[in-house]
Amino acid sequence: MVLSRPLFLLVRPATRFSCSSTFSRAGLRSFSLSPRRDAGIERVTIYGGGLMGAGIAQIAATAGKKVLLCDVKESAVQNGLSIIQKSLARIAAKRPELTTDQETTAWVESIMGRIATTTDSEEGVKEADLVVEAIIENMKIKQDLFKFLDGKAPASCIFASNTSSLSISEIASAVSKERQAKFAGLHFFNPVPAMKLVEIISTPETAPETTAALFEICQQMGKTAVTCKDTPGFIVNRLLVPYMLEAIRMVERGDASAKDIDTAMKLGAGYPMGPLSLSDYVGLDTTSFIAAGWRDQPDKVAPALVAEIPLLDAMLKDGKLGKKTPEKGGFWQYDAKGRQIE
Ligand code: 3HC
Repeated sequence: MVLSRPLFLLVRPATRFSCSSTFSRAGLRSFSLSPRRDAGIERVTIYGGGLMGAGIAQIAATAGKKVLLCDVKESAVQNGLSIIQKSLARIAAKRPELTTDQETTAWVESIMGRIATTTDSEEGVKEADLVVEAIIENMKIKQDLFKFLDGKAPASCIFASNTSSLSISEIASAVSKERQAKFAGLHFFNPVPAMKLVEIISTPETAPETTAALFEICQQMGKTAVTCKDTPGFIVNRLLVPYMLEAIRMVERGDASAKDIDTAMKLGAGYPMGPLSLSDYVGLDTTSFIAAGWRDQPDKVAPALVAEIPLLDAMLKDGKLGKKTPEKGGFWQYDAKGRQIE
């Protein structure tokens, strides 16, 4: 999703809970505002209706949580719901116990029914046990959002960011000292419903109870969690991004074709996708954005690993972002539905 102004300045209260939610606004209002930490996390609010936010909302609802999906525009939350619908249909098709259309529809609706939406940032946080932010990768916008939410959320509410490239400590510096103890990174992987890992990133201020509560909800959502410190790229991206960049350099140098590099890493190293296919999948813009952010931290990330790549820059200039721009493609070509053409 694209935000040009702080999220909280763009609320539209008139459209609160206006989508296909089956848990009503009245129902939401009847929830207790008292601290519920001992009862675990039951109400999860996700900020950002894009691919990641939708995926997180989906797995939280599938785990039986009451989910509120919040974005600045009604069209964005509707897009999030549509991503979830499609993903659930895909999963339902593989569940042997769902043998009829009615059973499938009932299963999908039982999960969709746990997801409400809002474009009102304040409403979104008032009764949340956990907030997961999955908005644009922009420090100032994330800080503004969390600062705003800090004044509105119950004291017990845990704040988490799904950032893949920004410092959790720096985002958390926008909230009160008390909330910083309840602030962590919660990093999911694309496609969220299929990828089994979540990284829980602790800052020096994160309380052990916060980490424990996040471990518990990850487990409830069927994910395996690992913990790590707040360093660039955490664990997965710190290793994956330099690997993808080096594969791009190999293409640039003419060492091998994109197709052969991908085949080599799939069949020679057992990766589900080759590095160029994966770069297209993550988005060449995202990959480049992460590398650029790390170039500003030479004390933490070796500059040679993230040095600029003229081929990548040229592709971005041509509008080739990978899977998300099927008409232009990336290292691979895509059909109109975003399927890779072999
Ligand atoms: N919703 C629900 N389920 C999905 C799904 C979706 N959007 N996408 C895939 N799946 C499920 C399928 O239903 C299938 O489930 P099953 O095993 O129960 O049958 C399973 O995932 C495998 O999917 P497919 O059979 O359709 O296709 P593949 O076997 O080719 O797998 C893939 C697709 C899961 C994407 C696999 O290629 C893969 O794991 N690729 C690597 C992805 C990866 O590395 N992601 C991390 C990127 S880095 C990142 O996200 C960090 C960010 O910060 C940049």
